[in-house]
Amino acid sequence: MAEDSSTKKGSGYWAGRSESIYLYSVRQLVEGLGKDCKTMVDIGSAGCPYLDWFDWIPQKTSLDMARPYRGEGIKSVQADFMQWESNEVYDIGTCLQVLEHVPLAEEFAQKLLQRCKILVVSVPYKWKFGRNNTHVHDPVDEEKMRSWFGRRPNFSVMISEVKSDAPRLIQVYEQDWDKHWASLKQRERLRNVTSD
Ligand SMILES: C[S@@+](CC[C@H](N)C(=O)[O-])C[C@H]1O[C@@H](n2cnc3c(N)ncnc32)[C@H](O)[C@@H]1O
Repeated sequence: MAEDSSTKKGSGYWAGRSESIYLYSVRQLVEGLGKDCKTMVDIGSAGCPYLDWFDWIPQKTSLDMARPYRGEGIKSVQADFMQWESNEVYDIGTCLQVLEHVPLAEEFAQKLLQRCKILVVSVPYKWKFGRNNTHVHDPVDEEKMRSWFGRRPNFSVMISEVKSDAPRLIQVYEQDWDKHWASLKQRERLRNVTSD
């Protein structure tokens, strides 16, 4: 793969994340789901450049209360998502490894659903309480996500890493559709049947 700002490992937080399998899975999901998207938001970026992967999406926003990603063509917003007063509804949004840090996770999840027509979220999957002392909701599982989001996701998958023992749950929520799909291929088939 050619090296650019999004593939360069660099140092610090991104160096430890850039080759994560969960991020590659999110990348495939956004590439499949976001083909026609014009606007995208990432909530809780921690300075990570993965928004650069989605170069066909013209308007991209990175929001973080501490470290939004600052990159070419990216709108960077330093704010607490819960206090953020923007009324914009984005075509697609990502919120990766954030909910487990947020005390009022249900309110946060509901605001994510309102702000993103298609939402891709990831959380640590069934990590023991105390494994990471910045996580306030471990263990997180499908049931806890259901209680925060108040609905079934359209898609849910558990992703294991190879280099570390760090299972994560990735889910997709679509605003205009409640059908469950198990792969992007199946979603495409179901979408085509529904729109006939
Ligand atoms: C563990 S990092 C996740 C970074 C990246 N998304 C990833 O997948 O590695 C969590 C980030 O969420 C941000 N965050 C936590 N609560 C937030 C809130 N209420 N509003 C905005 N950002 C928040 C933190 O500042 C932190 O940068």
